[in-house]
Amino acid sequence: MKGIVLAGGTGMRLYPLTQVVSKQLMPVYDKPMIYYPIATLMQAGIKDILIITTEEDSQKFRDLLGDGKLWGIELQYCIQDKPRGLAHALIVAEKFVANDSFAMILGDNLFYGQTLPSSLQNAVKKESGCTVFGYHVANPSQYGVVDFDQSGRVTSIEEKPVQPKSHYAIPGIYFFDSQAIQFAKNVKPSKRGEMEITDVLLQYLSEQQLTVEIMGRGIAWLDTGTHQDLLVAAQFIATVDNRQGLKINCPEEVAFRNGWITAEELRNIAQPLKKSGYGEYLLNLLEELK
Ligand code: TTP
Repeated sequence: MKGIVLAGGTGMRLYPLTQVVSKQLMPVYDKPMIYYPIATLMQAGIKDILIITTEEDSQKFRDLLGDGKLWGIELQYCIQDKPRGLAHALIVAEKFVANDSFAMILGDNLFYGQTLPSSLQNAVKKESGCTVFGYHVANPSQYGVVDFDQSGRVTSIEEKPVQPKSHYAIPGIYFFDSQAIQFAKNVKPSKRGEMEITDVLLQYLSEQQLTVEIMGRGIAWLDTGTHQDLLVAAQFIATVDNRQGLKINCPEEVAFRNGWITAEELRNIAQPLKKSGYGEYLLNLLEELK
């Protein structure tokens, strides 16, 4: 299975910070935002990843992440000319996807929790159709919202409904087979001018190929759309990190634990960084896990 990270968009709600740096390169506590979704895909066992960025920011992402070899993964890049919507990004990724199934994750979404890797790995195992998650939130009207009947069958999916039918938002990680590209091509821009991912999901639903899994309360899903969200996410990450002495979504650590890089390779990354808490953490891992 392949992976796509969506790191385009305007990040307008984070203005004027986005005058300085693109949203997904901003720090969330101890690392750039885009590390989190990449590490999430890596925890699902995905190594072959496409980063979709704007033309303007593409080089900055390449400078930061390179070809992924340091983390034992393979990164490619492509450009979406304008943020025309998440369904549009699927069309941009057509060549990369080819005939494979893939996971798509939003570059500003953070996931954390003990059961997360196993629920992602289960979604990876399904080779056809589409799997998304339902996550109980206080403010569903800001998201795509899914409703179920008593037997758990999906009865509706609505994008940012004014009167949501449930509290279950669809978080920004989606598992698709290659039909998604064709479905995306059928999507017309919505009233807000974007090609909505919900219109792709509705096509899977009408073909009875949509699975919605509940992402339970033990999993944290944070997004970083607004200044307040960004602060809250950083505080959350710092709180857990400081208490446990374990980093959240650290790609170097995931690569090492997955056996995708050797102890020697991890040491080579960490040694020059040893004066930072980050480098020290990686060196300690080598001690703990040897
Ligand atoms: P949005 O939440 O729409 O993010 P945005 O960056 O456009 O921000 P704002 O609405 O505040 O102006 O998108 C979520 C993620 O998906 C974010 O990482 C940007 C990315 N994205 C794309 O890559 N292409 C797109 O066409 C859209 C709409 C978003």
